[in-house]
Amino acid sequence: MTKTIAFVNLKGGSGKTTLCINIAGYLAKKQDKSKVLVVDFDPQANATSALGIEGKTLEKSIYDAVLRQCESNLGASITQIILETEVKNLHLAPSELDLAAASILMQNTKNRVEILSRILEPIKKFYDYILIDSPSDTGLFILNSLRAADRLVVPIDSSIFSLEALENLKIYCRDIEEMTGHYIEQFTIVLNRYIKSGSKAKKSSKPGASEEIQSTVKAMSHTLFVVPDSLLVYRSQQEGLPISDYAPTSALGKAYGEIANYLARDFIE
Ligand SMILES: Nc1ncnc2c1ncn2[C@@H]1O[C@H](COP(=O)(O)OP(=O)(O)OP(=O)(O)O)[C@@H](O)[C@H]1O
Ligand SMILES: [Mg+2]
Repeated sequence: MTKTIAFVNLKGGSGKTTLCINIAGYLAKKQDKSKVLVVDFDPQANATSALGIEGKTLEKSIYDAVLRQCESNLGASITQIILETEVKNLHLAPSELDLAAASILMQNTKNRVEILSRILEPIKKFYDYILIDSPSDTGLFILNSLRAADRLVVPIDSSIFSLEALENLKIYCRDIEEMTGHYIEQFTIVLNRYIKSGSKAKKSSKPGASEEIQSTVKAMSHTLFVVPDSLLVYRSQQEGLPISDYAPTSALGKAYGEIANYLARDFIE
């Protein structure tokens, strides 16, 4: 059974893309035959560039697959847009800025929150894991991601706004369930850019804030993982490689690897 996992947060810059491509790297290494597809569903196309694909060189992208769902004689099928990456067993449905314009077409399409799940249906049988990198959106992109996914990974940063975004996301999940009957079976939170108190202060986040948010989220009895703040993120993105291929044995890599192992499990919470 394919596991479809969306990386979502209504709040921008919380680490969705970074987490998505790095978890993908570890899932692709889990077993020799495990096949992973990253779907870049964000017009910013950060997952595309982080996997070493130059947006400007693309002939087709997820925009074309959306277009096909909205106007059946235009665009392309998902199989026509998928690319291989430098990482064995890791494929990419790339994105480009044009996707931003697709939201207008999507608005006027029947069952408009099910466009992405319809796009993915024919290729599910080829992949063990489909990972959706979703934009920080409050409209059709996030609703489509929630409808297409069985599981969610929600990266948060050490801020009160993150907790607010978390509550709002739960409302979106309930909305999707009411609208379509689709139920999200697993909700995993990742406290990203974790800084231990006592470590050097960073501009964006006070030491101690990470620990405070960590205990608040734990008290909400959510499954919670922690990913450290690390310069390796920047360096690996420069190389267009996930950490699994850039610094697999680093503390950062270990953190991503643990999350990947958890997501690969079959149990339902
Ligand atoms: N663990 C980490 N350590 C250091 N930097 C990180 C870490 N995770 C993410 N970053 C950096 O934080 C920034 C935001 O991350 P990212 O782009 O993944 O967030 P996002 O939620 O996808 O953003 P958007 O809402 O724009 O899509 C990026 O510059 C990224 O390199
Ligand atoms: Mg992103």
